[in-house]
This record gives sequence, C-alpha cells and structure tokens, in this order.
Amino acid sequence: MEVLIQADAERAALLVARIVAGEVRANPRAVLGLATGGTMERVYRQLVRMHREERLDFSGCTTFNLDEYVGLAPDDLNSYHRYMREHLFRHVNLAPGKTHLPHGNAPDLAAECRRYEELLQQAGGIDLQLLGIGTSGHIGFNEPLSALRSRTREKALTPATVKQNAPYFGGEDKMPRRALTMGVGTILDTRRCVLLATGASKAEIIARAVEGPITSMITASALQWHPRCTVVVDEEAAAQLQEKEYYRWIFANEPEWESYR
Ligand code: F6R
Repeated sequence: MEVLIQADAERAALLVARIVAGEVRANPRAVLGLATGGTMERVYRQLVRMHREERLDFSGCTTFNLDEYVGLAPDDLNSYHRYMREHLFRHVNLAPGKTHLPHGNAPDLAAECRRYEELLQQAGGIDLQLLGIGTSGHIGFNEPLSALRSRTREKALTPATVKQNAPYFGGEDKMPRRALTMGVGTILDTRRCVLLATGASKAEIIARAVEGPITSMITASALQWHPRCTVVVDEEAAAQLQEKEYYRWIFANEPEWESYR
C-alpha cells in the first residue's frame, strides 16, 4: 500500500482522476471499478472536464460499480444508478451497454449477486478500482465483520453508515437498511485500486485502516493485502497518520509520481 498526501480535497480528487485517465489512455479497453458518495463527486467532475477539454476517451471502457441499495429502482432519485448517470455517464462517451451496477430491486437478490460476479469474470476482471471509505471503515458496503474473502452479496448497513448517508434521503427512516455490494474478496481481486478519503471526518478511520492491524472490523484494512493499492488523502484526512513524513517523501521523490507532481 502507498499513501499520497495532497494539500486539499480538490487536489486529492484531481490526482485520482489523473490516475484513472492515465489508465484509460494506456489501456483504452480498461475495465474500471467505480464508487459513489460525496468524495467521488469531485473525481467525476474532473473526469468529465478531461473528457471535454483533453479528449479523454471512454468509448472502449467497461465499468462496474461497487454497490446499490436494496429496493431502489434504477431511476430512483437516491439510487446509485441515478448517481452515476448524473455525475458521470451522461457527460462522457461510455457505451450504455458497458456500464454495470447491481440491481437492488431484482426479484432474486442472491441470483443478481451471482450474475454480477459472472459478468465481472466475463469482462476479464477489474483493471482499476476506485474506492471511498465510510466512517464505519467499509469499502463498498462491506460493513464490520464482513468476511475478508466475501463476494458480491446482500449486506445490512451499520448505524454509522445509515447516519452517514441518511442526509441524502432526508432522514434515517427513509433510507434502505440493506445493499448489494461487491465483497472484500471481489475488491482484493482487482489489479489495481485507488482509495480516496478527504476531510477531518475520515482522519481517524484512515489511520486505523492504513496503519492499524488487518481486521474485519475495518474492511478497508484488508487493502493492506492488495498487491497494488494507492491511498490518496488530503491534509485533513491525513491528520492522524504516523508516517506522514515518509508518505510525503514518496510522492516528492518516487519516479512513478514524477508526472503527477
Ligand atoms: C459507495 C461506496 C462507499 C463510499 C463511502 C464513502 O459506492 O462504496 O464505500 O465510498 O461510504 O462515502 P462518502 O464519500 O460519501 O463519504
């Protein structure tokens, strides 16, 4: 795992978008794993800008999102299908048939999860996976005690996640309590992953996930097992990390990051 600290949330999101753009330019048929949530909005704004201003071409790419709420139809205002359309899909040239999210309103949710894993296999697996982190330590909706080898499945949300996301629904009582999510094992199978965390509310959980022990209580900590995982944080989210000086040195000196500085 490597940690890159950027001055603020905008610069952190720009770095993540540039990493995605680099992947797409190097491999026009890239399979991208996508995340939703407030943190990712800045990344998608940058990718849309790059598509318009820098001719970033998504036409050969395939995408798979991490998760969707159970019970929400794709056109529901709060669904992640809708989030993706609003923040990315309708603004870029991704082929509609190549963007995938699990269907939270499928009649048989277990079958839907199996179908999603099969689709992923058929696409050849994910080249680059974007991740956020919840205050519960989740990646995707892999809440505490999720098996670290889990695959796509239905998961009940913790009170911390309900509290984090209830504002989007106008109250906790209006928010679904379950979601379909790629598993921790599904995420660990991706060839590269990039986790973005910004803001003071993520400082404690980032320190525990990155520098603490691997534990199913914080599923993001399982990324310590991932062969190629980059964690991008702004100064606020980096506040409780112990090895900040080392992480700063890496970004300032390692050749891999030269063109991103
Ligand atoms: C969303 C997802 C979640 C979010 C996380 C952070 O698809 O998988 O893990 O990335 O809850 O959300 P924000 O960015 O809203 O703090």
